[in-house]
Amino acid sequence: MRQAFRASLLHCLSDPGEESRASAFQYFEDGLLIIEDGIVLEAGNAENLLEGLAEDVLLVDYPGKLIVPGFIDCHVHYPQLDIIASYGEQLLDWLNRYAYPAEARFSDPDYARQAAAVFVDELLNNGTTTAMVFGTVHAHSADAIFEAAAARDMRLIAGKVLMDRNCPDELRDDADSAYADSKMLIERWHGQGRLGYAITPRFALTSSEAQLAAAGKLAREYPGVWVHTHLAENRDEVDQIARQFPSSRSYLDVYDHFGLLRERSVFAHCLHLDDQDRARMASTGGAAAFCPTSNLFLGSGLFDLPAMRAAGVRCGLGTDVGGGTSLSMLKTASEAYKVLHLQDHTLPAARALYLATLGAAEALYLDDVIGNFVSGKEADFVVLDPAASSLAARRSSTAETIEEAFFALLTLGDERHVAATFIKGISQKNN
Ligand code: GUN
Ligand code: ZN
Repeated sequence: MRQAFRASLLHCLSDPGEESRASAFQYFEDGLLIIEDGIVLEAGNAENLLEGLAEDVLLVDYPGKLIVPGFIDCHVHYPQLDIIASYGEQLLDWLNRYAYPAEARFSDPDYARQAAAVFVDELLNNGTTTAMVFGTVHAHSADAIFEAAAARDMRLIAGKVLMDRNCPDELRDDADSAYADSKMLIERWHGQGRLGYAITPRFALTSSEAQLAAAGKLAREYPGVWVHTHLAENRDEVDQIARQFPSSRSYLDVYDHFGLLRERSVFAHCLHLDDQDRARMASTGGAAAFCPTSNLFLGSGLFDLPAMRAAGVRCGLGTDVGGGTSLSMLKTASEAYKVLHLQDHTLPAARALYLATLGAAEALYLDDVIGNFVSGKEADFVVLDPAASSLAARRSSTAETIEEAFFALLTLGDERHVAATFIKGISQKNN
C-alpha cells in the first residue's frame, strides 16, 4: 500500500552541531513524504513529487502542520509513571522514598500489564515512537512492556532490572536468577518483530560483583542485545561507588571492568565524567542518554553535551520519567537547551531535533532503520501542530525561519502539539 503525506517536512541527516550546519538537516516547506508498506520511499518537495505520483496513492494533507521523524526516548522507566512529580529528594533518597515502593507494586503481573499499556499510549500521545525502557526486577514486567509495544508494532528496547544489594528485600534478585531470567527473556523477545532486549543492571550500587559479572557474561554471549544502566548521575552516588569499588579508576571503569561497556551500551545521565571516561566511552561505542528534566528535577547536575560530542560519544535525549518530569520530547529538548545555556553553550533547534531523532537512533545503533526520512527506513513519524495552543500559534506566525519556528515549538510545545503519531505509516494518535 502506497501513501503520501503533505505538510512541511523537517529531518536531520547528521549532527547540526552548535553552529547548526545547514547541510545536516533538510527542510521542505511544502513537503511530501511517500511511504510504501510502512517504509519510506521518498521525502522531498511536494510540487516535484506530486507530478510523478500514481493516481491510486492515498494522499493525506496536513496544511499548516510539520512532519518530523518519530521521537526516540533513550531512557525511561515505565514503572515510575505514577510517581512522576514527587517532591523534595535527591537521587538516593528519591529511590527509597518513591521509586522502590512504586516498583514493588509490579509484583502483580496484572498491574504490570495495565501500567505498560497506559505507558505505551502516553509515549504515542507525545509523539515518541521508540523507547529504551527500564522494567522492574520482576521478569513479567519485561513481558508486559514487550506485549504492549508489540500490540502497537512499536520499536522498543526493554529489560528486567537486575539488583541484588542495597535495595528492599522484595525487589532483590541474585546473580544466578538475574542471569537465568535475563537469558530466558532474551530468547523470548529479542529480535521478535521490532523488539530488542537490554540487559539492565540498575546501577553499580545495587549489583554485587557476582551479578555484574553475570551481566557481563550475558553481554558477551549475546553481542546483539543492548546494555542499559545508570552512570555518574549524583555526587553522593559517585562517592559511594568510589568506596564500593576502590580498585576502579572511575564509575565508568566499574562497568568497563565487568564487560558492560561496548557497542549498544546505553548509560543514563553521565554527568560526572572526566576526559578519560569520555574517550573510553567513545572508543568502545558506548552511548549517553541526556536526561535534562530529571537532572534538574533531582538536582543532579548539568550534562556537558559539547564535551561528550567533541570526544565522539553517541548521545540521545532521554526523559527518565519518573525522575524526569515529562514524557514529551519537545519539553525535554527545551530543558536541554536551558541546561546548555547555563554552561555558556547553545542548543540550536536543529541539533535538539537531532538528539531526539537521528542522534538517539545512532546512540541505540538503530540509525539503519529509524531516525530520519532516508528512503528504506521505517516510516515512524509525528505530525506537529504549531497552532495547537494560542500562544504557540501567535509566536510561530511571526517566525522567519524554520529554525526560529521549531525553537519556539520546542519551548512552548507539549503533547497538545502532537496532532498525529504514525507507526510504520499507521496512525496511533489522532487529535
Ligand atoms: N539510578 C538508579 N536507579 C535510578 C532510577 O530509577 N532513576 C534515576 N534517575 N536514577 C537511578
Ligand atoms: Zn533512570
